[in-house]
Amino acid sequence: LEEAIERVKGGEGQIDDEVFFKPVEKEAIPRQAKIKLVKLDPDNIILLLEDITEAVRAERRAIQAEKMATIGRLAANLAHELNSPLDGAMRYVRFLLEDMYEDDPRRKYVSRIKDALERMDRTIKGLLYFARGKTQTLKPADLNEMVRQTISFFEDQIRRRGIEVVEELDEEMPRILHQDIEHVLVNLIKNAIQAMPEGGVLTVRTRFDKSDRSIIFQVIDTGVGIPPEILQNIFLPFFTTKEVGEGTGLGLSICRGIVERYGGSIRIDSEVGQGTTVTVRIPLQT
Ligand SMILES: Nc1ncnc2c1ncn2[C@@H]1O[C@H](COP(=O)(O)OP(=O)(O)O)[C@@H](O)[C@H]1O
Ligand SMILES: [Mg+2]
Repeated sequence: LEEAIERVKGGEGQIDDEVFFKPVEKEAIPRQAKIKLVKLDPDNIILLLEDITEAVRAERRAIQAEKMATIGRLAANLAHELNSPLDGAMRYVRFLLEDMYEDDPRRKYVSRIKDALERMDRTIKGLLYFARGKTQTLKPADLNEMVRQTISFFEDQIRRRGIEVVEELDEEMPRILHQDIEHVLVNLIKNAIQAMPEGGVLTVRTRFDKSDRSIIFQVIDTGVGIPPEILQNIFLPFFTTKEVGEGTGLGLSICRGIVERYGGSIRIDSEVGQGTTVTVRIPLQT
């Protein structure tokens, strides 16, 4: 702004520009304004200032909503296309398991394939329900069991990177969260593992908060951490710092979508070089 004033004083008769105002308090958002400077005579300058912060944000939200709608259509088509080959694959993997002897050492791998396919199937069926605007009729599941299953699903990667796993599971957890919370766990645990290429500690904690009847779970890593300037973007769809093939940037936005559908919240605390803590809180509907 000062620079613009100097420029007008220095001879330019009129200036139209946009400027940002840094917030005084740390938590506040920067304000964006349109400015118009007009030099009346050498001693008088008129400054018109229009706060366009909200207008810009509204526009950004509209673009975001449109992007999400496009993703939604894309996802629905994809889910539709994948549905029948997946049904076939699941059927054959079941045949294969039935054909194998009980003590066949390869059973372990085949049943992992079956678990993975079944998870894909749930995701895809879930997406199809979602796309048709129906609410899912999912059975309540055991959160602690979902945590154990998810960790065992990533067992190979965890072992390869030398990651130590700590499970702190509240055994008084009501069976109430739905199966699709598993996607949240999978995404968060995957991010945590990817953040620790040289190993570290992965802690998964579950807790039932009796005081306000909510379920809390945390995924904590001692990995690379998230720089503050990136932190504000990580929930945006397609925002990723990972190589092609490593990440799509959809993980956290999907997590947030699922958690918010249950009226919950998701929060990330991170320190570069120290690690990241993701906390999910979901109120228990009664
Ligand atoms: N536990 C974590 N540690 C460090 N960075 C993380 C972590 N979780 C998420 N991030 C950052 O947030 C970005 C977005 O995450 P996500 O939405 O899951 O997409 P993706 O994992 O496909 O990149 C990641 O690219 C990464 O930069
Ligand atoms: Mg991810």
